[in-house]
Amino acid sequence: MTAFPALKDADIDNILAYISAEAAKPAGGGAKGAPEAAGAGAKEEPGSNSLLFGIITLILAIVAVILMQINSNLNKLAAEKEGHEKTEPVPFYKNKAYIALCIVVLFVIGGYFTIQGAIGLGRQQDYMPEQPIFYSHKVHAGINQINCLYCHSSAEKSKHAMIPSENVCMNCHKAITEYTGPELFTAEGKKVNGTAEIQKLYNHVGWDPKAGRYVKAGEPIEWIKIHSLPDHVYFNHSQHVVAGKVQCQTCHGEIQKMDEVHQFADLSMGWCVNCHRNTKVQFAENNYYSIFEKLHNDVKEGKVKDVTVEMVGGTECQKCHY
Ligand code: HEC
Ligand code: HEC
Ligand code: HEC
Ligand code: HEC
Ligand code: HEC
Repeated sequence: MTAFPALKDADIDNILAYISAEAAKPAGGGAKGAPEAAGAGAKEEPGSNSLLFGIITLILAIVAVILMQINSNLNKLAAEKEGHEKTEPVPFYKNKAYIALCIVVLFVIGGYFTIQGAIGLGRQQDYMPEQPIFYSHKVHAGINQINCLYCHSSAEKSKHAMIPSENVCMNCHKAITEYTGPELFTAEGKKVNGTAEIQKLYNHVGWDPKAGRYVKAGEPIEWIKIHSLPDHVYFNHSQHVVAGKVQCQTCHGEIQKMDEVHQFADLSMGWCVNCHRNTKVQFAENNYYSIFEKLHNDVKEGKVKDVTVEMVGGTECQKCHY
């Protein structure tokens, strides 16, 4: 906890007194939100059915127009039969029913696209910035088969996978001073000189490859961050990589084939939630899930065959937002 040197002993006594007074009050306020949240969880349905709904809406609209047409024709016939004078038919663009229908349809379509656009604000799928050093994952993780965790070791232990520090690069590049592998090209098709890129690394860390020692103080390489979730979302790598046993490539694409990394997934809420609905967890003989006694019993009795992430609470709002 942060130290608060500004607080006097009297202030601390007051805070403690306040906490014990509040704790003595009956609980109740907190429980109110819970059923609401559960209801919202059931409602949140991603757009997989939207095409179907669109088609049904269109068919219903066409049926409505046809019925209106039949209705007006029948009215006309009835009027003729009763011998009323023939009235001029109202042209369709002046017909109030048609105009109202068009406005409603335009409103619904416009609203749909506005909301979709607003939800998508700030997303950046396929983002591929130019990095300060042309560092190729294809050369390192693909051709030379270096394990992802050699560089992104905290993906197994913490929330963030992290970008390796320069001394990790220098474990190898004290010895590997030039690039002799297959020719490299940027996305725009410009040729890249691998040896010159390794020299850029040396310039950053202050290493002199001829002398074989550090000659000046290093400075950090300013890698540009590609993946970025909004601050209101909690995402943890170790949870997915260790407990969930999800492969890096499932979420990041075939990184070992990319010269330059781009953002593979759109990192939308639908992406997270859909995977949680469909992915089975390795439930049996996994201590991590030992607290789910009822689910374990259901599995034993054969009531439940596969346990998905959703069943262990992976679609509850507060797991990702708190
Ligand atoms: C030799 C070290 C090294 C290895 C091995 C390595 N990476 Fe990286 N990785 C980096 C560096 C440096 C960056 C930052 C530069 C960049 O984005 O290209 C990075 C960036 C990334 C990013 C983008 C991070 C962001 O900014 O959002 C992802 C995702 C990633 N690596 C995944 C992987 C995966 C998956 C593997 C295994 C197939 C792997 N890496 C292997 C060093 C490594
Ligand atoms: C485990 C050893 C290892 C580590 C760690 C390592 N490299 Fe490499 N690097 C290599 C090998 C092997 C080659 C290919 C040499 C060849 O083919 O001639 C290479 C090639 C390169 C190249 C030239 C090809 C290209 O990708 O543009 C650059 C630049 C480079 N490394 C930068 C880095 C940076 C920056 C880091 C730290 C984030 C790093 N390397 C970490 C082994 C490593
Ligand atoms: C379940 C999906 C998922 C899996 C599996 C996954 N990642 Fe990520 N990764 C993400 C998301 C989401 C972010 C963005 C995190 C953020 O902005 O806070 C991210 C960000 C990163 C970054 C950028 C730095 C950071 O930690 O924010 C790197 C590097 C990375 N991942 C590497 C890896 C590696 C290596 C593996 C495999 C060991 C891996 N990831 C497995 C979803 C995943
Ligand atoms: C490729 C599939 C996949 C994707 C995509 C994915 N997850 Fe997961 N997630 C899993 C699996 C598998 C687990 C189960 C591990 C566990 O139970 O802890 C999990 C568990 C979690 C948990 C813990 C749930 C619990 O009950 O303790 C959180 C929180 C979470 N994911 C957040 C996210 C967020 C946020 C995103 C999107 C940015 C995301 N996940 C994307 C597969 C995925
Ligand atoms: C598995 C993780 C996960 C769960 C569970 C989850 N969310 Fe989200 N939520 C996200 C992610 C990731 C984003 C960011 C989407 C983006 O940036 O486009 C997000 C964004 C949002 C936003 C901002 C609007 C938007 O679409 O960007 C709202 C509001 C929201 N979530 C509400 C909820 C509610 C309500 C629930 C419970 C029914 C819920 N979330 C459950 C991951 C989750």
